[in-house]
Amino acid sequence: MLRHPDEMSGGIGPRNLSMRKKFIAGNWKMNTSSISAEMLASGVVKGLGSETRVDVAVCPPFPFLARVAQVVKGTHVALGAQNCYPKDEGAFTGEVSPPMLVDIGCQLVFVGHSERRQIFKETDAFINNKVHAALKAKLKVILCIGETLDERKANLTETVLDTQLTGSLANITSALLKNMVLAYEPVWAIGTGVNATPLQAQDAHAFVRNRVGQLCGESAAQSLIIQYGGSVKPDNAADLLCQPDVDGALVGGASLRPEDFLGIVRAGIR
Ligand code: PGA
Repeated sequence: MLRHPDEMSGGIGPRNLSMRKKFIAGNWKMNTSSISAEMLASGVVKGLGSETRVDVAVCPPFPFLARVAQVVKGTHVALGAQNCYPKDEGAFTGEVSPPMLVDIGCQLVFVGHSERRQIFKETDAFINNKVHAALKAKLKVILCIGETLDERKANLTETVLDTQLTGSLANITSALLKNMVLAYEPVWAIGTGVNATPLQAQDAHAFVRNRVGQLCGESAAQSLIIQYGGSVKPDNAADLLCQPDVDGALVGGASLRPEDFLGIVRAGIR
């Protein structure tokens, strides 16, 4: 009789790894309409069915959150927002607060996506404020980090990740880290069709886990889900997701088609 891989391993390493359930999140960015958002969410809900071996979330644009909340209510698909402002309420025209996101049914929020860092010049200190505000509102936070192509070419990947982690995780205790997910998203791989190789992803994830261990505590870092993001597709997902420190995927383009997104979800089950 074939034994479960966990039973075959004597050490604690693989057991630890198997405790981290894969988590696949779809970042719809500034795409969809009210109708197509609802259809996309329905497609994901139907395709996922009662599957619970992998965690799944969809993250529509702000205007469609409430509508999608109705579609995913009572299902295994979680709802996330793509951004928040680090205050509960007040004179911040055009912004959306973490308690508002909770109010309309969100369970999680991205913070520090590279598009926000680059286009909107968000700093690590500002991102750290958002992390704390979102956690205070009881949202799960997906904190995104990653280097640009120039930084990688200049051999600065670890320096950049170190700076982003140190700044964005300021005053994050091991207890707070339990409500966080990290997403390693090399900027050069986002929306380019060029994904990091499984080994490049694994190296970066191992570095991130080690550094988070130093910052927030070793055991919290061992349980931390670290997603990979950047041109994840159904045909490259399995190779990325089988790396020991790659615990899921943050999916942009391929999350806009239910069959592609579900293909990536299925790759997380194997
Ligand atoms: P992509 O985007 O999958 O389209 O590369 C990923 C992301 O930005 O989260």
